[in-house]
Amino acid sequence: MTNTTNTIKHVASPLAHQTLQDSNLTRPVAGRRPIRILPWLQVVKIGGRSIMDRGAEAILPIVDELRKLLPEHRLLILTGAGIRARHLYGVGLDLGLPVGSLAPLAASEAGQNGHILASLLAPEGVSYVEHPTIASQLAIHLAAARAVVGSAFPPYHHHEFPNSRIPTHRADTGAFLLADALGAAGLTIVEDVDGVYTADPNDSNSKQAQFLRETSIADLAKLKGTLPFDHALLEVMATARHIERVQVVNGLVPGRLTAALRGEHVGTIIHTGARPV
Ligand SMILES: Nc1ncnc2c1ncn2[C@@H]1O[C@H](COP(=O)(O)OP(=O)(O)OP(=O)(O)O)[C@@H](O)[C@H]1O
Ligand SMILES: [Mg+2]
Repeated sequence: MTNTTNTIKHVASPLAHQTLQDSNLTRPVAGRRPIRILPWLQVVKIGGRSIMDRGAEAILPIVDELRKLLPEHRLLILTGAGIRARHLYGVGLDLGLPVGSLAPLAASEAGQNGHILASLLAPEGVSYVEHPTIASQLAIHLAAARAVVGSAFPPYHHHEFPNSRIPTHRADTGAFLLADALGAAGLTIVEDVDGVYTADPNDSNSKQAQFLRETSIADLAKLKGTLPFDHALLEVMATARHIERVQVVNGLVPGRLTAALRGEHVGTIIHTGARPV
């Protein structure tokens, strides 16, 4: 009779003999800081509602600024979804669609904004690329062109957490996850306000809104009101490995994005959970 009790092939791996659930056991192997895949990359998230929905008046000056930045930086430009996604949520929620069905539909609106931006930058060699290309062929694209454009939405799709009827992981979260995974040099979030305030500065009921020039995820978590980005961004910033700070800037003021990419403090700097090496 053949011995069938031990047919497992022995593959040498430092993690082979322990559960992956116990972080004390996995830490010696998995606790190391990951490499920076594209350390020279600057990621720029362009607001869907705050910039793209305003049309030519807001888009053309930003496109002009991005065009002039190309000789200085290699960029991954990611776009948010804006008003069309909000309309879509309204119709979808009315019909009872689950959050996992709404997430890819909203993501496609972010993609439409990306296509618009890429068309305007096409003479400079800039193209819109889909998520799989960003995941595996970004380096070759950025060797051929100074920038590419993509949708800032993360591909949670039907895996979106069902804790809310509106997708919790939207454009800001997606932009941060990508920037951190790529080990990018920085992430700049472009809005229609000077940065983050203690309350919405455009809400007539919040006259007390104070500008936060520099803040941290811990301080922002204590704020009761709204933020100019997804709340889930605070969670992903807490566990960041590379991106130590994010700057939120006003894209309606010419020169702010350029200054931010040159390392100047022109908006709100948010300190994440990532620690210097
Ligand atoms: N604490 C806050 N500080 C600054 N702005 C705030 C705050 N809370 C709310 N806002 C509002 O957020 C608005 C920006 O809206 P939002 O972030 O939804 O746009 P967006 O980033 O362009 O959207 P999208 O997610 O579609 O890309 C600002 O115009 C401002 O009125
Ligand atoms: Mg925003």
